[in-house]
Amino acid sequence: MTSNQSAVYDTPTTLEEATAILDEAPLARVSVPTGGDVWMVLSHELARQLLADPRVGREPLVSREDIPYKARFPEYLTRTLLFKDDPEHARLRRSVGKWFAPRQIRALQAEIEVECERLLDEIEQRGPDFDLVEEYAVPVPIFALTRVLGADRTMAADFLRWNQVLFGTGASLGAAEVAAVEAECVAYLRAEIARKRGADGDDLLSALANVPEGEGALTDDEMISIAMLILVAGFDNTANFIGNGALALLRHPAQLSYFLDDIDGRVIPVVEELLRHGRQSVGSGVRNIGMPFVALEDIVVGDITIREDEIVLINRNAANHDDSVFERPLELDLRREDNPHLTLSYGVHSCLGAPLARLELQVSLAALFRRFPALRVVGEPVSQMDTMSEAIEHLPVTSVAE
Ligand code: HEM
Repeated sequence: MTSNQSAVYDTPTTLEEATAILDEAPLARVSVPTGGDVWMVLSHELARQLLADPRVGREPLVSREDIPYKARFPEYLTRTLLFKDDPEHARLRRSVGKWFAPRQIRALQAEIEVECERLLDEIEQRGPDFDLVEEYAVPVPIFALTRVLGADRTMAADFLRWNQVLFGTGASLGAAEVAAVEAECVAYLRAEIARKRGADGDDLLSALANVPEGEGALTDDEMISIAMLILVAGFDNTANFIGNGALALLRHPAQLSYFLDDIDGRVIPVVEELLRHGRQSVGSGVRNIGMPFVALEDIVVGDITIREDEIVLINRNAANHDDSVFERPLELDLRREDNPHLTLSYGVHSCLGAPLARLELQVSLAALFRRFPALRVVGEPVSQMDTMSEAIEHLPVTSVAE
C-alpha cells in the first residue's frame, strides 16, 4: 500500500531542520536510516492526538517480521511493557502504576534530599573543582534506582555498569559480553524477588513480589522485565537532564540569577522549562527520533491517511518548539507559565517514572545551586554523541567565583 503524500523529507538532525518541516507539514513523510520511509509527527497538537490514539501501537514491531522498520531492539526490551499494547500493556502498567503515583513518589523526597546533600558534602570536602556529571548527575539517579528496587547501596556500581552495557551508554561491546551482563542482571533480580517475597520492604520489587495470587500478581519473569526496563529507562535520561539542565542554567546567567533569587519557589517551573528545551540550550539537536509506533489500522489525519502497518515517529523535540503552543520557543525562558511539553511523552506509553524524574531534577538542581550559587563551567563539556541518548559525560565546574 503506498502512502498518499508526495514529498519525502530527509530525517531532520537539528531543531532548525525539524521546525522547517513543521512549517510545511505537521505530519510529514520522512526517510529515516533505520526504517525507510515513515510518518513523522512534528506539531504539538497532532503529537498529543496520536500519542493518545489507541490505533497507534507497538506490538507488531515485535510480533511481525514484515513491519517496515529496519532497526531491531534488544530482546530483553521487547519483552517489556514498552512494546505491549492494551489490554496487556494496561495490565502490566497497572501493577506498577500505584507505586509510581505522585503521592507515593513524594514520600521519597526527603531521602533524595539527604543523598544530594551527602554527595555535595563529599564534593565540597574534595575541593572547589569537580565533574558535575560523574560526581553528581550520575550518582543521583543511580541512588534513586537502588531505592526504587530496594537494592543495597553497594549495588550502585553494578547498576551503573549494567546500564552502560544494556543501554549502550558506554563503550560498545560484543554480543557475548552484553548477553553475559544481561544474564547477571536477570540472576540478581530473580534472587532479589525471592528474598523479598514474604518480607515487608517498601520498595517496588517488594510490592510486586507480595501481591497475592488472584489479585493481579505478576510472574517472576514479568517482574524481572519491568525491573530491567526501569533500570535502563530510569537512569540515563535523568542523569542527562541533571547535567545538561545545570549546563543550560550556567550558560544563561540572567536566567540563572532569576532561579537563584528564589530557588525553592521557582524550581518546579524551572525544571519544566529545562525539560521542554532539552539539549537546545547546550547545543545539538534531535538525532534521537524516539521509539517508533505502528498504525494498527488506517488513521485519517486531515487529507492524509496513515495506512495500517505504517510506522509513526513522534518528534517530541519539534513539538516542544511548536510556536503555535510555545511563545518564542527557541528561548530558554524560566518564567514560562504554561508548559505542556512532551519530553516525558503523553498517552498510553507516557513516562511511567515521570513523577520520580521530576522529583530528582527538582531536588538535585535546587540542592546544587543552593550549595554553590557561584558555580561556573571551567572546561569543555564532553558529550557522547554516538549513543542513543547523546549522554553528557563530563562537565568540569568550580564552585568558587572568578
Ligand atoms: C528526565 C528523565 C526522563 C525522561 C526524559 C523520560 C522520558 C520518557 C519517554 C519519552 C518515554 C516514552 C517512550 C516511548 O515512546 O515509549 C518514557 C517511558 C518510560 N519511562 Fe521515562 N523518562 C525519564 C525518567 C524515567 C524514570 C526515572 C523512570 C523510572 C524509574 C522511567 C521509566 C519509564 C518507563 C518504565 C517507561 C515505559 C512506559 C510505557 O511504555 O508504558 N523514566 N520515559
